[in-house]
Amino acid sequence: MRSIISSPSGPLLGAVRLPGDKSISHRAVILGAIAEGGSRITGLLEAEDVLATVAAFRAMGVTIDRPATGQLLIQGMGLRGLHAPPKPLDLGNSGTAMRLLTGVLAGQDFCVELTGDVSLSRRPMERVITPLVQMGANVTSCDGCPPLQITPARELTGINYRMPVASAQVKSAVLLAGLYASGVTEVLEDAPSRDHTERMLAGFSKSTWAPGDRARVTGGGHLTGCNLIVPGDISSAAFFLVAAAILPGSEVSLPEVGVNPTRTGILSILAMMGADLNTANAGKAAGEPKGDLHIRGSDLRGIDIPERLVPLAIDEFPVLAIAAACADGVTTIRGAGELRVKESDRIAVMVEGLVRLGIKARALPDGMDIVGGRINGGAVDSFGDHRVAMAFAVAGARARGPVTIHNCEPILTSFPQFADQAVSLGLRLSERP
Ligand code: S3P
Repeated sequence: MRSIISSPSGPLLGAVRLPGDKSISHRAVILGAIAEGGSRITGLLEAEDVLATVAAFRAMGVTIDRPATGQLLIQGMGLRGLHAPPKPLDLGNSGTAMRLLTGVLAGQDFCVELTGDVSLSRRPMERVITPLVQMGANVTSCDGCPPLQITPARELTGINYRMPVASAQVKSAVLLAGLYASGVTEVLEDAPSRDHTERMLAGFSKSTWAPGDRARVTGGGHLTGCNLIVPGDISSAAFFLVAAAILPGSEVSLPEVGVNPTRTGILSILAMMGADLNTANAGKAAGEPKGDLHIRGSDLRGIDIPERLVPLAIDEFPVLAIAAACADGVTTIRGAGELRVKESDRIAVMVEGLVRLGIKARALPDGMDIVGGRINGGAVDSFGDHRVAMAFAVAGARARGPVTIHNCEPILTSFPQFADQAVSLGLRLSERP
């Protein structure tokens, strides 16, 4: 499997336009497919995870054309127009595809099986099965993990569901099933998780939704196709934000990145650590706030990351761990037990890699402590996790010698342009087959 060697580098300079947001891209494909009429999506992330969602809907009879890079024309089939796929739907590495599709498929009148790769087959699915079964759905799994079997429900009924963990995937699965249910379906959360589904459902149902409004849908309606532009992915931006922050003299601009407040924990945390960053040209695209991010290199300090920011930066902890390793003092992360059930156990894997590179770090059940210091050269494994691979590629830039990251293939699931864009900004990456 492909390895990346990341060598110590000078400052990062320049601007790059990041690929489209992964969460928004999945939702655009899903809602476009079950809407009535055509939808044009521009700026779609063309990475393996989103392409798995596209392939799943094509297998269920939806016509999806790609007239240009990042552009899709979807001929929506309406809520009940999907066809039984000829074989199980393989969703690869994508937890978002698996959980959101389970919500949609719970409302169909055909049987379907959802499968995934080794990593996805280890991820917990009872969190979506439980509320969907409460609604009347027939979703089963042998051990709470994929594969999932979904058979037609007699009837789905709206529920009022309080989520035990902050999870946008669970919230979205329940809301999507709610489109097929009688009455109102409402999801309550103790801490806000990303709200892309709520925003996009409002666009496709010609209704309004504002942050702070309840996450709810009323069944029995329909969605209407629409056109939308996907902003750049702040979770991909995070790698260049941290790389620029830790490399003195850096100056990087990232235009038109999604800055939905349920995703900007990375900006708040880096600002608390002393990063020199700002957002300009605030605008909106398809109901999502966007802006241009600018960052300069600066001295970072260790902080206690406030627990309330954890769901707002949930995908950014691998690279935040690298920022912490380069900061002065100790950084503590708590209330982040969810990191253990991502594409890898990100607490265990990040601590193992940091320790290998000479950084003092300690794993806790719900977080980690990282003592800033000098990063040594060496070799680490991504454990099949795209964000872990990219985080250690960033670490190499500030290391005393080259860092080899094994098992980098999964970067293709979310950010295929990562190495090219990183090199264009000044990171020194080379690939080894
Ligand atoms: C996502 C939600 C988050 C996030 C994932 C994408 C989404 O997962 O980690 O990468 O698109 O809804 P959880 O819902 O498990 O927190």
